[in-house]
This record gives sequence, structure tokens and C-alpha cells, in this order.
Amino acid sequence: MADKDDITEGKDFGIGIPQAHTPFHVKGAHALDWGMQNRLGRIFNPESGRTVMLAFDHGYFQGPATGLERIDLSILPLVPYADVLMCTRGVLRSVIPPSSTKPVVLRCSGGQSILKELSNETIAVNIDDAIRLNVAAITTQIYIGAPYEHDSIKNLIKLIDDGNRYSIPTMAVTGVGAEMARDARYFLLATRIAAELGAHYVKSYYIEDGFEKVTSACPVPIVIAGGKKLPELDALTMAYRAINEGAAGVDMGRNIFQSDAPVAMIQAVAAVVHNDEDPKRALELYETIKAEDNK
Ligand code: R5P
Repeated sequence: MADKDDITEGKDFGIGIPQAHTPFHVKGAHALDWGMQNRLGRIFNPESGRTVMLAFDHGYFQGPATGLERIDLSILPLVPYADVLMCTRGVLRSVIPPSSTKPVVLRCSGGQSILKELSNETIAVNIDDAIRLNVAAITTQIYIGAPYEHDSIKNLIKLIDDGNRYSIPTMAVTGVGAEMARDARYFLLATRIAAELGAHYVKSYYIEDGFEKVTSACPVPIVIAGGKKLPELDALTMAYRAINEGAAGVDMGRNIFQSDAPVAMIQAVAAVVHNDEDPKRALELYETIKAEDNK
């Protein structure tokens, strides 16, 4: 039976103490709904404010890319070290165990292949299915300056509107067509368009000159793609510079899963992203873990 006395007898009302208010740690997200913030808070670590996303969605237009021939063999061992998984719904359902508690950023565009015009994408996932998959965020690509620029921007607008209805954030990927220049002017334009249209965070490439301007002019967080496989020290240096110049993390694929020692590499990347480890020390960490794992 309920204890009726306790209704009036409570004494710890904290009279005079203002209610606790914890500022939200994700750039540009302070005015979003609770569900939206909660999902972004699963993506961006509340202590560092940053994220290590593991991207393995390449097959949606490239087929079985090197390192992704068997995602169960190459990616599952990396899952414990990633903050977030970025993949397609096909791989999520068929390979990733539903017991995994890692937040998922779902690739929601498709419709082209590497043999044709890359910018010719459509939205490839209905929001209902994203909800069924319990994702932390949804994502599509915009191709500024490419033949299907307008369609790709329309995809982004639709995805943001669909996600907003259910407090699911959208990450906009700034795709670069084969012929496009990868410079500050381009990424200033592309990332800002994405944010102005309502993307909750944006994935860009790192550029040597002017990246700080890109992160500064973008009112929401920027995470960087890794791009083509580089020597480990170069990839760690790129991540280090990006973080130093305002990136809120990485969404890295090939430089992790194509590394000689992917489990060591993802931990070295995480040390750079979350602990500001400098690239040489991160490489030492990589070598140490690699040697341990080879024993
Ligand atoms: C491109 O196909 C995907 O969006 C990848 O997720 C993205 O390019 C990041 O992967 P990577 O680090 O291999 O460039």
C-alpha cells in the first residue's frame, strides 16, 4: 500500500538552490530537443566533446572495397574501440550484432555506382526504417558543384526534415566529385551550405591550408573523413592537425581498416582525438599495440 504520509513530509527541497543546469557539449546544439541532444551526446563524448566514428559504408557504391570484403572478419574486431559505427542498413542488419550498444550513424543515400556519376544519389532509406534500427543519426551526401548538386541538396533537406520529426540528427557528408578542387574555398562553401540547411554536424575532408577557417565558419561540429590510405604516421598527423584546427573528431574508414594493424590504429586515432596525443607518440602507441597483438 502506498505511503501517504510521505506526500507532505519530504524535507530535502533544496529551497534557494537553483536547479542544476548542465550546458550541452555539442557545438550549435544547445537549443535542440532532448532526444536530439541525447542522440548527439551518444556520438560526441561528453568529456572530450569529440568522436571517433568508424566508417565502413563504402560498399554502397564501391562494392567489396579492400578491407571490407568480409565485414564480419575485418570490422567486428574494431567495434569495441569505436565510439560510433557508420554503415548501411544492409550491413547493419546482416553483420552487426544487435546486442552491440555502439551508436550507429546510418548511410541513407545510394542509387549510383562507382562506374557512373557519383553525385546522382537518392535517399535510400525511409525514416521509419531508421527508427526501427534505433540509429543515433542519419546521413546523406551533398555534391556541391557536381552535375547532380541540386538533387543531392534536396536529399539532405528531406532527410533533415524527416529526422527532425523524430529528433534524429542528420550528418551531412560533403562529397567531392572526381573533378572538384579540394580547397578551403570549396569546403567553406559546402560545409556552410550543409549547416545552414539544418545539418546537425558535417563531415568534410581535412585540407592543409585554411581548415581552421572551415571549422570556424561552420556553426555545427565538423568531423573529417580519412580519405585514401596513407602511411600510419601521416594519417595520425592529419587527425592531429584537424583536431588542433577545430574538428570535433574523425569519421575514418580506409586509414583504419586498411592499416597493417587496424585494432592498433583505431586506438592510436582515438588517443589523438580524445587525448590530444601528438602524432609521434600516437604512432608509438600503434607500434606497441601491434607488437602485443602479434605475440
Ligand atoms: C564514402 O564512401 C564514405 O562516406 C566513407 O564513409 C567516407 O569516405 C569515410 O571513409 P574514408 O576514411 O575511407 O574516406
